[in-house]
Amino acid sequence: RARNDSGINYSFGLWTVGWTAQDQFGGPSRPELDPADSVRRLADLGAWGFTFHDDDVVPFGSDDAERTRRLDTVRKAADETGLVIEMVTTNLFSHPVFKDGGVTSNDRGVRRYALRKVLRNVDLTAELGAKTFVMWGGREGTEYDGAKDLNSAHERYAEGIDTVAGYIKSQGYDLKIALEPKPNEPRGDIFLPTIGHALGLIAKLDNGDIVGLNPETGHEQMAGLNYTHGIAQALWAGKLFHIDLNGQRSIKFDQDLVFGHGDLLSAFFTVDLLENGFPNGGPRYTGPRHFDYKPSRTENEIGVWDSARANMATYDLLARKAAAYRADSRVQEAFAHSGVFELGEPTLAAGETVADILADRSAYEDFDVEAAANRDFGFVRLNQLALEHLIG
Ligand code: GCO
Ligand code: MN
Ligand code: MN
Ligand code: MN
Repeated sequence: RARNDSGINYSFGLWTVGWTAQDQFGGPSRPELDPADSVRRLADLGAWGFTFHDDDVVPFGSDDAERTRRLDTVRKAADETGLVIEMVTTNLFSHPVFKDGGVTSNDRGVRRYALRKVLRNVDLTAELGAKTFVMWGGREGTEYDGAKDLNSAHERYAEGIDTVAGYIKSQGYDLKIALEPKPNEPRGDIFLPTIGHALGLIAKLDNGDIVGLNPETGHEQMAGLNYTHGIAQALWAGKLFHIDLNGQRSIKFDQDLVFGHGDLLSAFFTVDLLENGFPNGGPRYTGPRHFDYKPSRTENEIGVWDSARANMATYDLLARKAAAYRADSRVQEAFAHSGVFELGEPTLAAGETVADILADRSAYEDFDVEAAANRDFGFVRLNQLALEHLIG
């Protein structure tokens, strides 16, 4: 049940608002936040759920008693506010032990340690009732192409994911794994750099049925790719298990801006797809609208909560505009004119064989190529209608 007026289930990573804003060139510009306090603040702002890395709540190296105590404060805040812990993930990137990766480190001891850290958090995720376990392999990669046997690296990556997925099944947990692609940063080149690469690896797994994707807006855009196309292919493949929404302005370092503060027109079409589905029907995303952004380093605590609110406010606005766009009869006519519905028709007729199309002179010999080449698809007019709905 959504807590806000729009009825949309918004969720935030605790590391987003909790980021103390250290970067490559300077130390933190903000103090640490207490994770349980952040849960209460997010609830006040109208969020529905939250997510976290193990180390966001329990500092690396804490003993078991401390771990239980820290987790209990967050669990208590969730109970008190009614916020849902919908996803949990493991930090395999901050401690220097992971400097050459977790499950793909050249050091086998590190790989075994990483696996244990992940499996421990899988148990925690199930215990907390979260349904998604994210694996973002930020340190899985290289700076130098000769640094790894790249075949073995992919073998080890697949082995690691399959081992975790197999464990989930053997324990009977109601839990799915969502891989998060990213092209680079912190590694020079990260393995599984895009949605497509991750889908390719999942297809080779023994337990790939419970492994899907957690695509992040900015990560696809850092690779110069189209996020809406990416999540569309993940949906088509039945693999869009979770999403990380944020903003990015072109191919550069990972900005993690507020959703919509990057490519706004792209954000409009992302929301249009998520809220309204494909024009011809098809798979829908039903999971939480999860934000993975960072309040800019220039902001103090005021800006932290303003920016958290901004993600939801922007998404709400875009959802309203996307609904009006679809409901506009001019848009529906433009869809028809542009052939958007025509693309939903299979290219071969029901029961038609390859022999039939080969014998169909109207498909080739008598096909009026010039007339077809002259068609006006009206895509510009359609896009202008989208833009007018967006900024009008
Ligand atoms: C990034 C990533 C991370 C992951 C998170 C989940 O900005 O590079 O999005 O924030 O989403 O660590 O594991
Ligand atoms: Mn992310
Ligand atoms: Mn990011
Ligand atoms: Mn992020």
